Amino acid sequence: MSKIIRVEKWHDVIYSMWIKAPQIAMKVQPGQFIILMIDEKGERIPLTVADYNREEGWVQVVFQTAGTSTMKLTQMSIGDELFSFVGPLGKPSEIKKYGTVITIGGGTGIACVHPITRALKEAGNKVIAILGARTKELIIMEEEMQEASTELNITTDDGSYMRKGFVTEVLKEILQREKNVRKVWAIGPAIMMKATCAVVKPFGIDVIVSLNAIMVDGTGMCGSCRVTVDGQTKHTCVDGPEFNGHLVDWREFMNRLKRYTELEKLSLKMYEKQCQRK
Ligand SMILES: Cc1cc2nc3c(=O)[nH]c(=O)nc-3n(C[C@H](O)[C@H](O)[C@H](O)COP(=O)(O)OP(=O)(O)OC[C@H]3O[C@@H](n4cnc5c(N)ncnc54)[C@H](O)[C@@H]3O)c2cc1C
Ligand code: FES
Repeated sequence: MSKIIRVEKWHDVIYSMWIKAPQIAMKVQPGQFIILMIDEKGERIPLTVADYNREEGWVQVVFQTAGTSTMKLTQMSIGDELFSFVGPLGKPSEIKKYGTVITIGGGTGIACVHPITRALKEAGNKVIAILGARTKELIIMEEEMQEASTELNITTDDGSYMRKGFVTEVLKEILQREKNVRKVWAIGPAIMMKATCAVVKPFGIDVIVSLNAIMVDGTGMCGSCRVTVDGQTKHTCVDGPEFNGHLVDWREFMNRLKRYTELEKLSLKMYEKQCQRK
């Protein structure tokens, strides 16, 4: 059991939660994730660690409501206990001094890219961050990202805040301006990560993406999270979640994300009916 010590609603669909988890807080590294269960019968929900405090023993996660389980998670409040909170899982990001690097966060991917950005700056890199979201209200952790990066750029699809357009447009300009970019991290919707790879490829720079494949056990046993990278089968939970984006089979990855869509819709309908009856 892990206690929720703080909850904040940042938007209709975005919540942040701080969980007391001293052992995870002690070990977690940027790029890693946890898997939580709300109750004994609940689904396992993988979420990337957005922040942590080793001394105070807490871990922060940020989530967007996507279906039944994340909707149920919004009903949890301070003092409630999660049935399980397991981690840190996955391989940490490769943090070292590269020189100039770019980190890109799209939507809740901003929370995932936050500890990576901070660690890269602490390692002595010039870190140019680009945040993007559909609209102003969905830009999260702006202050934290300002502090974590050397230069911060923000885009919104509808132009309601900062620059209008996609992160990839700003990225292209930065790559044309900065001649020494050594690596790019991109975390967000699959389509954003794929588009980022396409923009970066002509510049001959590596792009690291964090794949949110559908996970069940999180231990490399069930095969649910398998992806093809450089023609080889990899398990996102143990071999990732970060991979070289230029080598990912994006078509397969995006198709596999949709494989339970009908069941997910049905589950959400049943949950909403249940809530109405209460
Ligand atoms: C390594 C990793 C890190 C993630 N980090 C974050 C994060 O920091 N913040 C955030 O908002 N979301 C994150 N996700 C996605 C999050 O786990 C899903 O949105 C959540 O599990 C959806 O569950 P649901 O029942 O609410 O939705 P459902 O209705 O079950 O599904 C909606 C969509 O969510 C995805 N999904 C569903 N079940 C899973 C599952 N078991 N594993 C992965 N994806 C699933 C699928 O794309 C699906 O189409 C991460 C996923 C992975 C694999
Ligand atoms: S979630 Fe089962 S193998 Fe990765």
